[in-house]
Amino acid sequence: MATVADIKSALENVKYPGFAKSIVEFGFVKDVQVDGSACSILLDITSSAQEVEDQLRKDITESLSTLVENITVNIKKPQPQKQNSNSVSGKNIAPHIKNFVMVSSGKGGVGKSTTTVNLAVAAAMQGKKVGILDADIYGPNIPRMMGLQGQEVEVIGNKAKPFNAYGVDVMSMGSLMQEGQALIWRGAMIMKAIEQLLRDILWEELDILFIDMPPGTGDAQLTLAQSVPVTCGVNVTTPQHVALDDSRRSLDMFQKLHIPIGGIIENMSGFICPKCGEESDIFGMGTCDALAEQYNTQVLGNLPIEPAIREGGDAGKPVVYFQPESESAKRYMQATQKLISYIDEVSDKVENASIQPTTPPGVSACSTAGAASKDNNSGGCGCH
Ligand SMILES: Nc1ncnc2c1ncn2[C@@H]1O[C@H](COP(=O)(O)OP(=O)(O)OP(=O)(O)O)[C@@H](O)[C@H]1O
Ligand SMILES: [Mg+2]
Repeated sequence: MATVADIKSALENVKYPGFAKSIVEFGFVKDVQVDGSACSILLDITSSAQEVEDQLRKDITESLSTLVENITVNIKKPQPQKQNSNSVSGKNIAPHIKNFVMVSSGKGGVGKSTTTVNLAVAAAMQGKKVGILDADIYGPNIPRMMGLQGQEVEVIGNKAKPFNAYGVDVMSMGSLMQEGQALIWRGAMIMKAIEQLLRDILWEELDILFIDMPPGTGDAQLTLAQSVPVTCGVNVTTPQHVALDDSRRSLDMFQKLHIPIGGIIENMSGFICPKCGEESDIFGMGTCDALAEQYNTQVLGNLPIEPAIREGGDAGKPVVYFQPESESAKRYMQATQKLISYIDEVSDKVENASIQPTTPPGVSACSTAGAASKDNNSGGCGCH
């Protein structure tokens, strides 16, 4: 008589339609029960497409037919994708990542990378499975800020394994290029690079992938929004009014790309004197409240200029991890809590319909996979 283990191992051969990974590997099998010659299986899948369900029922029934007589397959699936889907294309080339957070700013040097690192490490400290993708192909700073500079990338098959630091998986174009090397990026190359960072990196199943973007509103941002359903965007800005003007552009971009706005980080908001602890106003403070209101969003946190933040960045020792008692660390922790609540809210609204490609079974969701993938599932992309 078949056991639960027998059923589970048979299910390991059932591929998720359109992908080379099995439903077990994707973590979609939630429950298996066996009662004599009957078995019931509960799946929780991330596609609302009927053809995916039909294919799964067929494949599961076939693979278990020699083990049990009565097979009940219950499939939990999301509601059909709603109009307010946050994916521009409905595509997802990294379906094992639950949430994508795009950290953007209207201009450079306002603290995006610093924010990305500290929010990500804080989220990991709060129990989430987290990754950082450094998509700043022009000036990748994440390796230094996470203490990973100069480390060799491990390649498995034709994919690169992310590093791990402070409980966070990390990959950066900086780790894939020679140190100090500058590339001149053209539109098509940018798109390819961003797609590869999502597809050809062995990202594990993650709750949140934080993506540190290059400054501005260009091809990298657009490609990202077209490749995966971005759960929400975080805008980083400094409080001076000139910076806020640039921020509006970045927030407008989120709106145009249908990316929900998770909130604004007002960075370099006041200065905390390391000697006396007094907070003084340098670039202004609290100016982001009006901006948040205008875009119907929230200020996630006001981060002061604190030498410990810069030192932590330069030394690869994020302040939130190494100086948890500091005012900045506390504010990063609070900002992260707010962001996680927002992500939960968005996930409730949009459900997981959008974390799955809308292509029919057997057809690659990857833009680089050509017609050949229909026949042999080998589009040259990571999901095959
Ligand atoms: N709140 C802060 N207090 C002190 N220093 C900070 C703070 N935020 C950022 N910095 C420092 O400011 C510099 C710029 O920050 P960061 O590299 O994070 O900006 P960025 O927006 O990612 O820049 P780029 O657009 O070049 O990618 C870094 O040296 C960083 O350590
Ligand atoms: Mg940066």
